[in-house]
Amino acid sequence: MDAVIVILPGDGIGPEVAAAGRQVLESVAEQFGHCFTLTEHAIGGAAIDAFGDPLPSGTEAACRAADAVLLGAVGGPKWSDPNAKVRPEQGLLRLRAALGVFANLRPVKPHPQMIEAAPLKADRLVGVDLMFVRELTGGSYFGRKGRDDEGAFDECRYSQHEIERVTDVAARIARQRSGKITQVDKANVLETSRLWRGTVAQRVADRHADITVEHQLVDSMAMHLLTQPSRFDVILTENLFGDILTDEAAVLAGSIGLLPSASVGGERGGLYEPIHGSAPDIAGSGKANPYGTIASVAMLLRHGLGLSEEADAVEWAIDQCLSAGVGTPDVFGSKGVSTTQATAAVLAVLAGSARQRAAA
Ligand code: IPM
Ligand code: MG
Repeated sequence: MDAVIVILPGDGIGPEVAAAGRQVLESVAEQFGHCFTLTEHAIGGAAIDAFGDPLPSGTEAACRAADAVLLGAVGGPKWSDPNAKVRPEQGLLRLRAALGVFANLRPVKPHPQMIEAAPLKADRLVGVDLMFVRELTGGSYFGRKGRDDEGAFDECRYSQHEIERVTDVAARIARQRSGKITQVDKANVLETSRLWRGTVAQRVADRHADITVEHQLVDSMAMHLLTQPSRFDVILTENLFGDILTDEAAVLAGSIGLLPSASVGGERGGLYEPIHGSAPDIAGSGKANPYGTIASVAMLLRHGLGLSEEADAVEWAIDQCLSAGVGTPDVFGSKGVSTTQATAAVLAVLAGSARQRAAA
């Protein structure tokens, strides 16, 4: 197939992990006979430096026209002055809104090799297979915000429509899994959460009667995620709670550097990014974990381009590398290899599996 894919390297370790993602896309194109047109554009702090704008109009236009977008990471101390008028993160938030990608999918499934390495007891991690569905273009991230004489405010607002459409996404995913959704909110305190709870329950009853929903308060959910994570499957929640809970859940997988995400729901193929940040402390040191971005490439292939066989091959290659103990220091400590070595290992497995397919 022919596809136009925009790559947005961004800041910190963003360019390093995006380069790994690019190589994997090139390898998949070659081995499966696709024609991917890959173009790179500036976003975040790099775009502030070059254009004075964290989402330059050229970047936005390219992303709108693309079949899918792969992003590294944005942000860093250079642009973190609390009084700054423009911030790198605004570029990412504006892009999510511009593409209309209201549903952010974040799978968390510890690799068997990671279970011993994770900071939690191994028996808690067996059977953990979570899919977070985080609402991505509403809530306090996008509400009115500002300062007045006494302080500051960030308005949290949700419409029924915004809740219904992301519920539909969660229900479709749940249908292919255990058929169960856990919806997380703070309905004992927040009015928006009471709207969420009622709207999700009603939508599921009206349109997805085969799915069961349970509701959890976010504070106790934060605890349950660590004490009994295998109890949950699809976890549906609003923007800010989803941001926080998915970083927490990354602990279950052994390293946040392993986790991918897909942001979907817009007109085109969506936006794909690792869930980790720009990690300025290790930028340029060769320690960045490329697997979260490579796993995001797999999600791009599957959800953005409908290439599930290719996606499976990429995920399998990461799995093989982890099983063989090949990965960066965040995962394998002093036995860890560099970003480029870990990427090369994935590319070698991919090429090998292509040869096997060709021979079969
Ligand atoms: C994420 C990130 C972003 C978010 C930041 C960089 C704006 O933490 O994708 O989880 O809060 O959504
Ligand atoms: Mg986050």
